[in-house]
Amino acid sequence: MWNVVSNTKNPNCDSYDLTVHRSAYCARLLRFPVLLRDVCMKPAPSRSAQVTLTKVRREVDFVSMALRPFCTVATVFAKWKCLTRGQIVPKIRGLQQQAIGKLNRWTSNPTGFGRSAGPREFASANGSDCSDNGDQDVRGFFISTPIFYVNAEPHIGHLYSVALADCLHRQHSLCGLQGKLSTGTDEHGIKIQRAAKQMGRSPSDHCAAISAQFAALFQHANVAATDFVRTTEERHIRAVQHFWQTLLHGGHIYRGHYEGWYSSADEAFLTKDQVKQSGDHRNNITVSIESGQPVDWIGEDNYMFRLSEFGPRLEAWLESSPPPIRPEKFRRFALTWIREGLNDLSISRDRSRLSWGIAVPNDPTQTIYVWLDALVNYLTVTGYPASGYKKWWPCDVHVLGKDILKFHAIYWPAFLMAAGLELPRQLLVHSHWTVDGCKMSKSLGNSVNLEEELQRYTSDGMRYFLLRQGVPESDGDYYQSKITKLLHAELAGTLGGLLNRCVAKSLNPKQIFPPFDSSLFPKASTTSNVTPATDLLTSADYELITTVEALPALVQKHFENARVYRALEAIMACLHQANAFVQHKQPWKLPIMHSDAERAREAAARRDTVLHVAMETLRVCGVLLQPTVPGLAQKLLARLGTSPNTPWKELSCFDAYHGRPCPHAGQSLGPDTGLLFPRLDDVTSLHDFKKSKHSRRTEKADSQS
Ligand code: MSP
Repeated sequence: MWNVVSNTKNPNCDSYDLTVHRSAYCARLLRFPVLLRDVCMKPAPSRSAQVTLTKVRREVDFVSMALRPFCTVATVFAKWKCLTRGQIVPKIRGLQQQAIGKLNRWTSNPTGFGRSAGPREFASANGSDCSDNGDQDVRGFFISTPIFYVNAEPHIGHLYSVALADCLHRQHSLCGLQGKLSTGTDEHGIKIQRAAKQMGRSPSDHCAAISAQFAALFQHANVAATDFVRTTEERHIRAVQHFWQTLLHGGHIYRGHYEGWYSSADEAFLTKDQVKQSGDHRNNITVSIESGQPVDWIGEDNYMFRLSEFGPRLEAWLESSPPPIRPEKFRRFALTWIREGLNDLSISRDRSRLSWGIAVPNDPTQTIYVWLDALVNYLTVTGYPASGYKKWWPCDVHVLGKDILKFHAIYWPAFLMAAGLELPRQLLVHSHWTVDGCKMSKSLGNSVNLEEELQRYTSDGMRYFLLRQGVPESDGDYYQSKITKLLHAELAGTLGGLLNRCVAKSLNPKQIFPPFDSSLFPKASTTSNVTPATDLLTSADYELITTVEALPALVQKHFENARVYRALEAIMACLHQANAFVQHKQPWKLPIMHSDAERAREAAARRDTVLHVAMETLRVCGVLLQPTVPGLAQKLLARLGTSPNTPWKELSCFDAYHGRPCPHAGQSLGPDTGLLFPRLDDVTSLHDFKKSKHSRRTEKADSQS
């Protein structure tokens, strides 16, 4: 890590020599956000705003010149003139991060992957105070999940939302960023009130019980959330009321009369074009076209938010770069809604109809609309309105399902704009899960008992299945035979099988991470001088080395694009290659004992070299599997005798092959704690065995008493 200090020599020079001037460039990059914040805070392009814009422009100019050979910042400058003011901020912020990442990677590891440092490391390196000082230079990385309604128990879709966010959060932590992962429960609203009544308990008892179920589930699923917020908490109520007052003082709220359709299940106001008649002539009801949920006609005096004024700014935001919504198809949906025109939004309900919610400040006759209440949870967890919230705000990634896109892509950014707050950097939208081909519903009785599933497949098994099969663009189907098949093939077979071979006493009698003999596997560039000992090498062997070496960068890229399923696909493909390598080399056919000592030594060296390559592959895959299957990855790395907490930026591979000292070669394996991922038939028979042992004991005890 290099120090970030201003280069007083010539910080304005246009030289491309980053090695000499990297400190100066970095110091300048660090000042970006401060300048940008100035720009954001100016309501109109006043004289001082123009001065700030000029300063920012100079910075962009400087950085783009300096980094031209290495990164795409130059493209900002090219596009600078055509950027509107609304687009400047997200654009430059994205580029600033890109530039920092690339600059840091390039300077500390010119050959490739893994040395990127986050803004937080830069700040520490600078010796500056990393505590909550409201300065965005030292801000952490913040990912959120939606908060979950407590009208029913958690289901597989909820678990997917959380697992996806958790693995992105873990990946950022492994890349050295200090992170926040927030989740929680959404506890206000008419349907919660009704659910509590149905269960015969008070709303607060009901919320506490279901909220605890969500918290326990996430714990069992090994979700490392740093905050779990409940909308009935005092800190949240304070944040919502403060946010309301900010909107009110900004002139964005007025008293009005709302008449229209309301879906309590979706907590959404709908126009006449968004509802339809459903059922037969005797039992005709009006339902939401989108969700199929019944709607009620309501007409009441309440508070309205001037949403209609935000269309152009929302459109500019959605058109900005990098795109604030992924995948692209969801960004296009949001744009279409905006282009169809936005009406003002009712943001309160008569308290006599909805009492289970947060009261409008200074008007106890009204309750704040549950979506406004719920969305503010993302600010609550940052400490808002206390000034330290800027360490975490804006949120880097809001993970959410497609059914709640409108609330996050239109209402939330409009509320934030009105409150003068920055917009989230990205909405990561995912599609839905069905179970056995059908939408989950109580009446179909097809919802999955998650606690049982977690017990059957383990938390790693469930996480692996959901993240390997979950493609954000399209719906996924959950059914047991598919899970079993996938887990058997990939975790028990491809991954577990390769580990079994490497640690088998017959092949690895010394139970070590075996050494690598470079004369048996010379570097690709020197293969023209192959020694007779390399006659068994093929181009596929070198391809394996290339694949493993390229894997970290590839996996990182897929994570950056939130395509976790692709990252897992790539890891599995690499493990397949390693299995094929071992299969082809057949180290079990090399004699362990030989009368000729030289032949015996050579056989051992060959065997060790094959195992070394396979174990290096396993090690790299283990490190890269940490965000998705943390328990399994730790078990794998511990068995290999390597550190279970290897940060990604310290991941280098095939040191011995490259002629560098290998820190693992010759080290003892970790303790044998059983199969890495037992096949389910093994688990079932083990359960049956334990059960039958238990019942035998019980029978015996019964007969004795
Ligand atoms: N409480 C609101 C969110 C407020 S966030 C400020 C809510 N809650 S929910 O419990 O209904 O849904 C929570 C999350 O689960 C949403 O992202 C939703 O899209 C997701 N899912 C609900 N059903 C789902 C599937 N069948 N499949 C995948 N995810 C689904 O909405």
